Amino acid sequence: MKRIGVLTSGGDAPGMNAAIRAVVRKAIYHDMEVYGIYNGYQGLMDGKIEQLNVGSVGDIIQRGGTILYSARCEEFKTDEGQNKGIEQLKKLGIEGLIVIGGDGSFQGAAKLTAKGFPCIGIPGTIDNDIAGTDYTIGFDTALNTIIEAVDKIRDTATSHERTYVIEVMGRDAGDLALWAGLANGAESVLIPEKDEPFENVVDRLKRGSERGKKHSIIILAEGVGSGFEYGKKIEEATNFETRVTVLGHIQRGGRPTGADRVLASRLAGKAVDLLLDGKGGRMVGIQNNQLVDHDIIEALNQKHNVDMSLYQLMTEISI
Ligand code: F6P
Repeated sequence: MKRIGVLTSGGDAPGMNAAIRAVVRKAIYHDMEVYGIYNGYQGLMDGKIEQLNVGSVGDIIQRGGTILYSARCEEFKTDEGQNKGIEQLKKLGIEGLIVIGGDGSFQGAAKLTAKGFPCIGIPGTIDNDIAGTDYTIGFDTALNTIIEAVDKIRDTATSHERTYVIEVMGRDAGDLALWAGLANGAESVLIPEKDEPFENVVDRLKRGSERGKKHSIIILAEGVGSGFEYGKKIEEATNFETRVTVLGHIQRGGRPTGADRVLASRLAGKAVDLLLDGKGGRMVGIQNNQLVDHDIIEALNQKHNVDMSLYQLMTEISI
């Protein structure tokens, strides 16, 4: 393969730029030409494509977001949209495509591969909700953003002796909430994968208060429901002054952590290797600190599992 494309799609994630940089530089090192596709699959259909060189990806490794921009695209779910995309790629003689994104983006990559155009998926989403990899690009940075924010909220929680419900991102996956709960020493964590009876949360808060605890932190994944509604219920049930903070999109931006930069570079390198071998229809991942690749459709058909041993530990140490 001599000419490849790269795009980012779906929600942006810190570390995507590090992945783009590694794709471009490694491909050029191996005498390939690389084309950047702007605005995800929408830009692919619209032909927003330009050649990238070594300098195009200079000074981006430390930047959040994605220099290629991103989009969620309904039209690309149709046959017509996918054919339009393939036409644009063929017009420029591009033979393979690397897609950096989450499961929606992988669906597009799988569809193109099924139509005979080889694609490789690199998992990039703060949610960490992709099967076939222990970590996705952006998860570590978002986790650290949450940790810093909750540490700050805790100062006010202590000063005013309040209970705080903090809503974090994670539509279908509780990884961010669970890891942050452990790292921030929360009293309770609410995740979509595990039903936590409301009485347990209330009992824990009351027990803490009886022990003389001055404040409490509850971390709730957005997939569980509204933080504001949960906070209201908590205040009604305990009579403790309760406030709610929804962290929102601050979780998606910012400088990627070292872990995310290294992960992004390693996954990108592996993706280029697969295209160099003429392979398509694969996703790359990291499992037990080893780079792996899987059939992209098989990975899409599997569910990412949150590590329930962390949940158990959380239960045991937040008594
Ligand atoms: O998939 C990443 C994510 O940040 C989810 O956690 C969140 O539910 C969603 O994207 C928000 O998407 P948008 O930025 O399109 O509102």
